[in-house]
Amino acid sequence: MKLSEKMARLGIETAFQVLAKAQALEAKGMDVVHFEIGEPDFDTPKNIRDAATEALNKGYTHYCNSQGIVPLRVEIAKEFERTRGVPVDPERVIVTPGAKPIMFYSILALLDKEDEAIYPDPLFPIYESMINFTGAKAVPVPLREELDFRFDIDELRAKVTPRTKLIILNSPHNPTGGVLEEDDLRSVAEIAQKHDIIVFSDEVYEHIIYEGKHCSFASLPGMLDRTILLNGFSKTYAMTGWRLGYAIMPPELVEPVVRLISNSVSCTAPFIQYAGIEALTGPQDSVPKMVSEFKKRRDLIVDGLNQIPGISCFRPKGAFYVFPNVKQLGVDCNQFADYLLNEAGVATLSGTHFGKYGGGYLRLSYATSLENIKKGLERINSAVAKIAA
Ligand SMILES: Cc1ncc(COP(=O)(O)O)c(C=O)c1O
Repeated sequence: MKLSEKMARLGIETAFQVLAKAQALEAKGMDVVHFEIGEPDFDTPKNIRDAATEALNKGYTHYCNSQGIVPLRVEIAKEFERTRGVPVDPERVIVTPGAKPIMFYSILALLDKEDEAIYPDPLFPIYESMINFTGAKAVPVPLREELDFRFDIDELRAKVTPRTKLIILNSPHNPTGGVLEEDDLRSVAEIAQKHDIIVFSDEVYEHIIYEGKHCSFASLPGMLDRTILLNGFSKTYAMTGWRLGYAIMPPELVEPVVRLISNSVSCTAPFIQYAGIEALTGPQDSVPKMVSEFKKRRDLIVDGLNQIPGISCFRPKGAFYVFPNVKQLGVDCNQFADYLLNEAGVATLSGTHFGKYGGGYLRLSYATSLENIKKGLERINSAVAKIAA
């Protein structure tokens, strides 16, 4: 069968492939510590689960508005105003099954072959995959470890051309855990304004932040109308499997994106959307509890990695990932990740899964128990000692 030419340009999220490899080893009896998958290991709070059950029992089990049910869009708009101080019309809110489709739909709706999209690299791999799929030019700007995994704004500015249509930002960041500063965002806003560029701001980790405060690109003066804000419930409320995300979009993009939804999934399950209303309006105490647990884990894993000869690890301010530098080990990071999985029973991802500037790093998700983190660190330490011997 001959597939379409563009399918050759579509990538994949490799975390799921590594998970499958790790599970195959487990099926053969190997004990594996999982640092590969980026999802909170906490239960979805009970009030949210109860709201979904109630919605199911009330019969919210049929097709619904492709853009998202109005009561949820109203609550999302209120949440946006509460957290960003900027009012937004619920007509600009689009609800999707998980936040990931926002990348798919927006990039498909916006980019053509002659366009260019700039993004800090490393980055969540689906962005580059989707840019390539449209045939547009993917333009990476390196994230610099010495800048706490922020970009150098002059390097970004130098990549802007008359064809630049989109700049993609993600803060707090997957895979590095880096957090952009308000000045970084203001500089991007200036560039976007000057060159009439749309900014895609992925803020899915906005509540998982340990030092400082989240600054939202969409809240900067004049930016709401040129920002696609991606957000969702997966990370904040430990709801990865529910598939519930949303975007706030410039008005011109709403109809085309809803058309893409109606051409693909039709709508997001309504009983899940009612659970989303409860997540936003119900008790919020599970969020700081989860974040404080993540912070303990972050400190354990960063301190542990920094004690291993040849590895150095930046202490990230947000999300639940570390991105240790393994260049001093003198081994290829892909081979090192394979070695850790096959020989030491530790599943990690090579930094190259997140872009060409991810070479020399690994990504570890510390959304796992303190016991698992200790066990994983001991195994990495012994594996490194064997390489050095
Ligand atoms: C940066 C980033 N954006 C978006 C998503 C997608 O989240 P969802 O599970 O809601 O599709 C992820 C998931 O890992 C992510 O890391």
